[in-house]
Amino acid sequence: MPILNRAAELQDEIAGWRRTLHQTPELNYDVHQTAAFVAEKLKSFGCDEVVSGIGRTGVVGLIRGTLGAGATVGLRADMDALPITEATGKPYASTNPGKMHACGHDGHTAMLLGAAKYLAETRNFAGAVAVIFQPAEEGGAGGLAMVEDGMMDRFGIAQVFGMHNMPGLPVGQFALRPGPIMAATAEFTITVKGKGGHAAMPHRAIDPIVVGSQIVTALQTIASRTIDPIDSVVVTVTKFHGGDAYNVIPEQIELAGTVRTLKKEVAQAARERLHAICAGIAGAHGASVTIDYDSNYPVTFNHAEETVLAGNVAATIAGDGQVHREIQPVMGGEDFSYMLEARPGAFIFIGNGDTANLHHPAYDFNDEAIPHGVSYWVRLAETALAA
Ligand code: NI
Repeated sequence: MPILNRAAELQDEIAGWRRTLHQTPELNYDVHQTAAFVAEKLKSFGCDEVVSGIGRTGVVGLIRGTLGAGATVGLRADMDALPITEATGKPYASTNPGKMHACGHDGHTAMLLGAAKYLAETRNFAGAVAVIFQPAEEGGAGGLAMVEDGMMDRFGIAQVFGMHNMPGLPVGQFALRPGPIMAATAEFTITVKGKGGHAAMPHRAIDPIVVGSQIVTALQTIASRTIDPIDSVVVTVTKFHGGDAYNVIPEQIELAGTVRTLKKEVAQAARERLHAICAGIAGAHGASVTIDYDSNYPVTFNHAEETVLAGNVAATIAGDGQVHREIQPVMGGEDFSYMLEARPGAFIFIGNGDTANLHHPAYDFNDEAIPHGVSYWVRLAETALAA
């Protein structure tokens, strides 16, 4: 079964919502205008409940089916944008300076609104569908905030599903995998304190630049010499700050970066090794080191049964050859991971076609993907909640 006729009919209207959202991007938890837009639409569709302010600025709409009692299935979209200055040149480009929907969350929100409209019209399922619109996916853990606010219990959500667009994957195709699909993320800041001095008298100083350089080099051995080659780990130093003059050895320098992993034990091993390397190298040179290490989003882990369901539903929309069921995991992070820790479910990628990459100033969500995404959401709900 291809795209639903009704989803195709709704494409222009949904693309209109998407472009409205695109013009007014908001960051993190400050998605007040976006959340108000979502809540107003959900009410106009006749959702049985529309609750705002979950996880600060999240919104949930509940739609009850007409085929009897049953579980509630959660479908989730994200609403927040990025602190990027838009360079698409599109007529509906951002009107909020320095803010941009560069990850397609405008498209995710619009597609889930479209599915909500359809599901509220047809109600051809048992139980209920909870459409979940979360703030602060881009680093603020809005998904966790909604879970901690009791969303799963409040709406009786038994399974939860997420979707993200993927540039490079053709429009009309889907991709997923069971198990880890996106990485756990951690950020670190390493401060190396030496002893400043004259550049021409290094023997009277402890040069934190030399110590920091050795740390950067040695951190490469976490991937190459600590972790099993069959496992995945990324350790990237993205900042190296220190020094102001040609002739002064600075007192201290600061390094920072990120660690990405797909397994808890690998995350733990990488963290321990990073601490040991820093302490050992600093100690060898008589420098001191302090480390701030923040473990952020956990691994986005797709549950086996729900991944099969999601893949099968995607295949009914796209055709079997258009669904990639065993893609490689992506080493980016995703805070839908918290919802998948709370309830079984699956995260799927939808093709965005040949566009600029996510988080790029020239990126734009592809409106041609809308009927595919809406059809997926609708059929997923109806299949998971078949009477
Ligand atoms: Ni995103």
